[in-house]
Amino acid sequence: MMRLSPVGSLLLPLTLLLQPTLSEYTTSNSTTPHDNSQNCSCYVIESGANSNTPEYFQYYRFFDFRNFADKAGQFTKTPPAVNDSASAGLKPVWDKDQLTTDAWNVDWGIQNWSKPATSDFPTPMANSPANVYILQNEDSNDPFTFLTLRTNRLDDSQTAAEIENEQKNVMHCSMRMLARVKGSKGAVAGFFTFFDDTNESDIEILTDDPTHKIRYTNQPAVDKKGNEVQSASVAPDNLAPWDEWQTHRIDWLDKNSYWFLNDKQVAANTYSVPRKPSGVVINMWSDGGEWSGNMSVGDSAEFQIQWIELAFNTSGPVGGPGGGNKKREALDLEGGTQLDTVEPMMGRDMNEWKRKSKGCEVVCKIDGVKQIGTPEVVSVNKSAATDISVSWGLLLFVGIVSTLVGM
Ligand SMILES: *[C@@H]1O[C@H](CO)[C@@H](O)[C@H](O)[C@H]1NC(C)=O
Ligand SMILES: *[C@@H]1O[C@H](CO)[C@@H](O)[C@H](O)[C@H]1NC(C)=O
Ligand SMILES: *[C@@H]1O[C@H](CO)[C@@H](O)[C@H](O)[C@H]1NC(C)=O
Ligand SMILES: *[C@@H]1O[C@H](CO)[C@@H](O)[C@H](O)[C@H]1NC(C)=O
Ligand SMILES: *[C@@H]1O[C@H](CO)[C@@H](O)[C@H](O)[C@H]1NC(C)=O
Ligand SMILES: *[C@@H]1O[C@H](CO)[C@@H](O)[C@H](O)[C@H]1NC(C)=O
Ligand SMILES: *[C@@H]1O[C@H](CO)[C@@H](O)[C@H](O)[C@H]1NC(C)=O
Ligand SMILES: *[C@@H]1O[C@H](CO)[C@@H](O)[C@H](O)[C@H]1NC(C)=O
Repeated sequence: MMRLSPVGSLLLPLTLLLQPTLSEYTTSNSTTPHDNSQNCSCYVIESGANSNTPEYFQYYRFFDFRNFADKAGQFTKTPPAVNDSASAGLKPVWDKDQLTTDAWNVDWGIQNWSKPATSDFPTPMANSPANVYILQNEDSNDPFTFLTLRTNRLDDSQTAAEIENEQKNVMHCSMRMLARVKGSKGAVAGFFTFFDDTNESDIEILTDDPTHKIRYTNQPAVDKKGNEVQSASVAPDNLAPWDEWQTHRIDWLDKNSYWFLNDKQVAANTYSVPRKPSGVVINMWSDGGEWSGNMSVGDSAEFQIQWIELAFNTSGPVGGPGGGNKKREALDLEGGTQLDTVEPMMGRDMNEWKRKSKGCEVVCKIDGVKQIGTPEVVSVNKSAATDISVSWGLLLFVGIVSTLVGM
């Protein structure tokens, strides 16, 4: 269903809609297309336990949050803490020029659901758009920006942050982010695929943990009787520290999940590998439960992300199984709504699907490239290339015929 947005994005000229440049985040880089990869028809990665098995994906996205500023000193102030959980969900985002644009909305939904306290999770939690903002590297010689998700503890509640990708039909992927986590104990930074509580693959950084430990989990991590499932979670504790910038990665494949840190495979699992088309979710939260722990009143923690890279296949409609957006909060949590104002994916290059459906003519790699986020051609399938010229010829022929018969 199309909903009219206040900015009237539906009235954008068709030519603009057909240009991938609409998905650009920054004016300074507006000539670079969003996916940096128009010539690629599929993307190859090396995966598996020995990182030597090629896996192919049909689609690619690179979300670059580094170029929001054109000079130092633009995003240096952390916005004031959200200080009232009752109104947290209604507090607007601070950086409207960056995080409410069509280019942002076409890919990301900033969440505002909340959940009450329960005996297992004693701190009520409210997601606030005001906990999603841009910050900037303090070194004025390298003033790149990054997306920040914050959680903070009030007297009797916790405010949190969550964003969801609007592509909710991801079926197997390699998802990566360059990120770090800063701040107080008692918070969880999550980067995960989600369909429901039993089809979910996670990277979770717990600020209660040592900085060399990360939790890699396929849900459900708790069985129907409430007991922990030992095989669900792998938690190596000899990793590069998560409070410094590291590249985190999940490879969600058909029968295997692999987790990487800085291109090195650090965890694997065959337990409950998700089997449903899913979305990609990023959050920063705490609820006083066993998993997150308690944050001290007045404290906060931040999940900071420079970029997110996603190579993926799809199954079914963009909105996910069942046609509509399957809402996370509707499935496992109470209350809340999504703040989307723009029909998901409407700004996408409409020709992408047609182009990609032709199979893998031009294989591109995404790792070991000159510039991360810009895939590079590794091989061209000549026989498929012939197929293209044949179909172009056919198209031209049909075009001429229709013109001749006056269709
Ligand atoms: C544009 O993006 C590229 C790659 O992300 C970056 O190296 C370059 O500095 C950016 N240019 C500006 C003006 O921000
Ligand atoms: C795509 O291919 C064309 C023709 O070979 C080339 O001119 C162009 O630079 C390529 N674009 C990218 C983004 O690689
Ligand atoms: C992605 O889809 C393509 C085309 O169907 C298929 O060849 C490839 O094996 C799939 N990749 C994964 C990792 O499932
Ligand atoms: C709560 O935060 C707002 C800014 O977001 C500020 O104007 C207000 O004074 C704060 N209230 C308290 C009680 O700290
Ligand atoms: C979420 O935002 C919508 C739109 O502004 C609002 O109607 C709704 O009440 C908010 N939900 C919460 C839990 O604050
Ligand atoms: C995924 O969801 C389906 C349907 O809800 C469920 O039967 C299945 O157990 C879930 N998990 C996996 C790993 O398939
Ligand atoms: C968090 O604090 C609450 C209230 O003091 C307590 O009931 C709960 O057990 C604590 N949670 C953890 C994980 O220690
Ligand atoms: C190359 O293209 C042909 C024709 O489209 C196709 O049948 C074949 O599977 C492709 N090979 C690879 C390696 O993608």
